[in-house]
Amino acid sequence: MSVQSSPNFAARLLGWYDRSARDLPWRYPPGSDAVPDPFRVWMAEIMLQQTTVAAVAGYFTRFVERWPTVADLAAADDADVMAAWAGLGYYARARNLLACARAVVRDHGGVFPGTEEGLRALPGVGDYTAAAVAALAFGEPAVVVDANIERVIARQRLIETPLPAAKREIKAALAPLVPAERPGDFAQALMDLGATICTPRGPACAICPVMADCRARGRPDIERLPVKPPKKAKPQRYGLAWWIEEGGAIWLVRRPGKGMLGGMRALPGGEWTDAPPPESGIVRVDHGFTHFDLRLTLVARESAHAAGEGEWWPLSALDAAGLPTLYRKLTDKMLERAL
Ligand code: ADE
Repeated sequence: MSVQSSPNFAARLLGWYDRSARDLPWRYPPGSDAVPDPFRVWMAEIMLQQTTVAAVAGYFTRFVERWPTVADLAAADDADVMAAWAGLGYYARARNLLACARAVVRDHGGVFPGTEEGLRALPGVGDYTAAAVAALAFGEPAVVVDANIERVIARQRLIETPLPAAKREIKAALAPLVPAERPGDFAQALMDLGATICTPRGPACAICPVMADCRARGRPDIERLPVKPPKKAKPQRYGLAWWIEEGGAIWLVRRPGKGMLGGMRALPGGEWTDAPPPESGIVRVDHGFTHFDLRLTLVARESAHAAGEGEWWPLSALDAAGLPTLYRKLTDKMLERAL
């Protein structure tokens, strides 16, 4: 039986969601008559890009407590938002978060556009986020495809085209299944199904609410779907960071607004290069970015080097500096060594 011949696909999925929805801080649980706040929905979807639900939960709660409305966020200091984002990664998202909040206030009177197209025109809002916010916040029957949904639909329809080319086919297969009623719950039901039952390894097909339609069910190679593109080897890059300490404080700088870790506080240091540095340093860390691995080596410098833009930051308050994970690993290692 094909999926298209199962008009009650959405009904079965939503019935399962009503019983099994994950309880997440940005969610409006099934049956709740609360009107979704587009600001909270948008914030969660930006945070969840490339990041796990478990990593996002605490950040989401802290952000909406500190900046409860889009106007509050639009009026925030860039530095405070970047520091609050520290550790969540993909820092361009935080810069776009601010740009978007300010655009909503400046160009839309503080009200999020209610259509996929209107949302798509906002800074940092791509196809996925526009569809997700349209469905979850505004009840639009948008076709929402994230990595979990991709896996569920590739298996349901036995789509064997490798990603990313398969995305089109997946979206086309999903479109006729999206219900006019509860499209937001439908999208989140697919996400939950992918996260808890239709998992990458060892899917629990026996308890799947849409097992009857699934063309990959029972296949020994179901884990192969969706077919991934061949993995490219990541280049190895190298960098030096400087430990400049005086009177219980270290010298911190802010990275340039664009580029890797843009706008984040950091240890000073040289450019990252393809060649290992000549100096051996005090400690070093390895950190994986999406497109390369970085080995960062810490070397001590005299305070005479603390020229240019920067600030002395007390070691006792390093938590409040909002260092991204790469630098945090380095300072942790350095301070452990000093104990
Ligand atoms: N991943 C992206 N958006 C999500 C959501 N709304 N709920 C759970 N996981 C998600």
